[in-house]
Amino acid sequence: MSTRTLIQGGLVITAADETHADVLIEDGRIAAVAAHASTVAQGWTADRVIDATDRYVIPGGVDAHTHMELPFGGTFASDTFETGTRAAAWGGTTTIVDFAVQSQGQALRAGLDAWYAKADGQCAIDYGFHMILSDVNEGSLKEMDRLVEEGITSFKLFMAYPGVFYSDDGQILRAMQRAESNGGLIMMHAENGIAIDVLVEQALARGESDPRYHGEVRKALLEAEATHRAIQLARVAGAPLYVVHVSAEEALAELATARDKGLPVFGETCPQYLFLSTDNLAEPDFEGAKYVCSTPLRPREHQAALWRGLRTNDLQVVSTDHCPFCFTGQKELGRGDFSKIPNGLPGVENRMDLLHQAVVDGHITRRRWIEIACATPARMFGLYPKKGTLAPGADADVVIYDPHAEQTVSAETHHMNVDYSAYEGKRLTGQVQTVLSRGELVIDQRKFTGRAGHGSYVPRATCQYLG
Ligand code: URP
Ligand code: ZN
Ligand code: ZN
Ligand code: ZN
Repeated sequence: MSTRTLIQGGLVITAADETHADVLIEDGRIAAVAAHASTVAQGWTADRVIDATDRYVIPGGVDAHTHMELPFGGTFASDTFETGTRAAAWGGTTTIVDFAVQSQGQALRAGLDAWYAKADGQCAIDYGFHMILSDVNEGSLKEMDRLVEEGITSFKLFMAYPGVFYSDDGQILRAMQRAESNGGLIMMHAENGIAIDVLVEQALARGESDPRYHGEVRKALLEAEATHRAIQLARVAGAPLYVVHVSAEEALAELATARDKGLPVFGETCPQYLFLSTDNLAEPDFEGAKYVCSTPLRPREHQAALWRGLRTNDLQVVSTDHCPFCFTGQKELGRGDFSKIPNGLPGVENRMDLLHQAVVDGHITRRRWIEIACATPARMFGLYPKKGTLAPGADADVVIYDPHAEQTVSAETHHMNVDYSAYEGKRLTGQVQTVLSRGELVIDQRKFTGRAGHGSYVPRATCQYLG
């Protein structure tokens, strides 16, 4: 006998609609969404009724950019798939797409298998993978085709990090050409890493070793230049392009110009670029290291442009780029040399709430919140309509959200496996109350009721986003 769950009395919000409606869940899927009066008239019954009066009922968040256990700078991102997906659930995210890594000299298959093994049996919520290409060659190009068939339909390339993840323009063009023919989506880390490395060396030679210099050498112009170059290479290849973690107004302008020409180029930004700035990187006593990520945080003035891009759809997605490193023992590896600070910020637990705060603050509408955090990432990465919406047939990944709750973000209370919060002390209106993943309660009125191993691997279709 399957469990029937009825969520009643809430405001159901999707990217397309806001309606006072009841949601019926059966066999882990949404069976129906209908006005309360009609569900009473039809005599809907359920084994479990969840009262959502005065609450929002929204699709579970889709975070299309996480790095659990990423090896970086001689250490590993501190969240495992177990701790990271549990924290994601606490924050109302029910699907992550993490990056499997091909190391240089390794086959894609070997890198991907390692990621399947890391995640297998560990996750509280569903998960898929992108593939990081660090070594574009005849072999890995051929392997791309097989991965697309297997449900790994997006590939991240780096114009930054020479000697580690970096691809040159020829390799990028080849990978884009391959994506054009196999339907894969190229995701680009767009920063001119060759030029940045020169500036890093010069800064260190001048004795400029504090975390804030990380932001100074990784110039907005070098993000814009790489974004421009990536767009032109994608045009030559005839392939669509998705630029990850856009932080600079100048880089966004390149995307907007291309989109005005009708080109299929897409952009993602992250909460850290919307809510934090170089002021954080400049915090004294090496505290700025907590905010070292790439692309870097920018001066506060860039934020208005990013919010605007989210409203005009020049940016389509907000993901976290969740890549946590503890301050103690990990960020500290870069004391005296900012270039040795592992790059990345924690945030998988904070994204839905921070974006709800943006609704409260008037930056975006409620439906746009769901669009950029749930629906579009699902479409962009071939998970729709299984994920990202509340409609009959969709997986019952549902969040009951209290829009009036007040909370203060803190490492004391968060669930990510990291010893600081990038948003410590920030007061937010709105909080996740209850979370279901395929109809199972994962968070029940702010108690974790999920389990490692509930989360399943989700193979993905190719990009479904044409906007
Ligand atoms: O600083 C960052 N973003 N670390 C994660 C790796 C990447 O480039 O996305
Ligand atoms: Zn990146
Ligand atoms: Zn990343
Ligand atoms: Zn504002």
